[in-house]
Amino acid sequence: MNTASAEQITPGPWPVEGVTRIPYRAFFDPAIYAQEQERIFRGHTWNYVGLEAEIPNAADFKATFIGDTPIVITRNKEGVFHGFVNRCAHRGAIVCREPRGNRLRHQCVYHQWTYDLQGNLVGVPFRGGVAGKGGYPSDFQPAEHSLRKLRVETYKGLIFASFADDIESLEDYLGPDMRHWLDRLFSRPVQVLGYARQYIHANWKLYAENTRDPYHASLLHLFHTTFGIYRAAMGGGVIMDDTKRHDMLRAFRISEAQEKEAYRGKDIRTYQEQYTLADPSLLHTRKEFDVELTNHIQSIFPCLVVQQIQNTLATRHILPKKPDEFELLFTFFGYENDDAELRAIRIKQANLVGPAGYISMEDGHAAELVQQAIVRDQESASFIEFGGRNMESEENLLTESAIRGFWQYYRGVMNL
Ligand code: FES
Ligand SMILES: [Fe+2]
Repeated sequence: MNTASAEQITPGPWPVEGVTRIPYRAFFDPAIYAQEQERIFRGHTWNYVGLEAEIPNAADFKATFIGDTPIVITRNKEGVFHGFVNRCAHRGAIVCREPRGNRLRHQCVYHQWTYDLQGNLVGVPFRGGVAGKGGYPSDFQPAEHSLRKLRVETYKGLIFASFADDIESLEDYLGPDMRHWLDRLFSRPVQVLGYARQYIHANWKLYAENTRDPYHASLLHLFHTTFGIYRAAMGGGVIMDDTKRHDMLRAFRISEAQEKEAYRGKDIRTYQEQYTLADPSLLHTRKEFDVELTNHIQSIFPCLVVQQIQNTLATRHILPKKPDEFELLFTFFGYENDDAELRAIRIKQANLVGPAGYISMEDGHAAELVQQAIVRDQESASFIEFGGRNMESEENLLTESAIRGFWQYYRGVMNL
């Protein structure tokens, strides 16, 4: 995808209603997608790239993406993380071709230019030619041909990288409210339990909306409601940071009777009292946090979702690929000091989420249902007035305010 300057984008005006209407072209237009790569992912943004626990040893590396730009994160022997764009300074090939591993030098396969853990060029074959013939001119300076370096900062085991040198600190970017809730899940050393990934034929922002959307959670996800994991009448709400770009959606149990009452006689198909699980151990949950929540779904702009559902913990990394395609990478984790029983519960409950998860398989499909239906109606718009028209934090789950907050911040960054 080529980058686009602001002048190349000629979208029609945004609907006069503002962020209660999202023009469908925002999910299609290649020029908007290209501008997102520059202004959001390669702009003044801290992008989640992984967990420290994924690269625990000196010289460990992880290859991933910021937006659709391939990058590599490395760890040096002092435990400091470095990041660079995974594009050879010679003629542009991918340098690191494995997703994870351990090596002190990263060598491009094409002509074997070699880089250190910081992305500095440290080896050039036949640099001086052979027998006085060929090679690079005498003024060739390896220091001018390092890989494009990124800023890297960590917060409690989460690694973020940025293309911007003049960006605020990661702590400030997250803000106190988001840090408070991240601390709930990341105050102990984590251990990676496994991965799941899925490829979704829809625009990445449909998923950014989805994880800020408590409205659908008790309606689309039959399993959620039927077995009492999440119901609209639960306690909870949405909390945004001051910029509205991030969101924390939390839900906790009130009384079973109140929850049932909210559904009774309302013809809501997801409430089916007669169903039981043949193997109820799936939902056997252990209390482990001071603040007990059934759902902790935290969206950190632009591409991270942190989740706790019952005892299953995961990061979800949104990786845009094309205007109408993204990949979703689930990294399941527990804590280093988990006992065997708790670890087994986490792994069993991993069945709740991921591509085939009992309460998340519908999300990817819902995004595709939108993408398929809007293909010829790009000047039409979605309607986002549930819970009103504001974008304030709410102490209830019957609202789309965090979706409006996302779009307000997005419009500002994108100048749309
Ligand atoms: S493109 Fe990497 S060494 Fe030539
Ligand atoms: Fe969902």
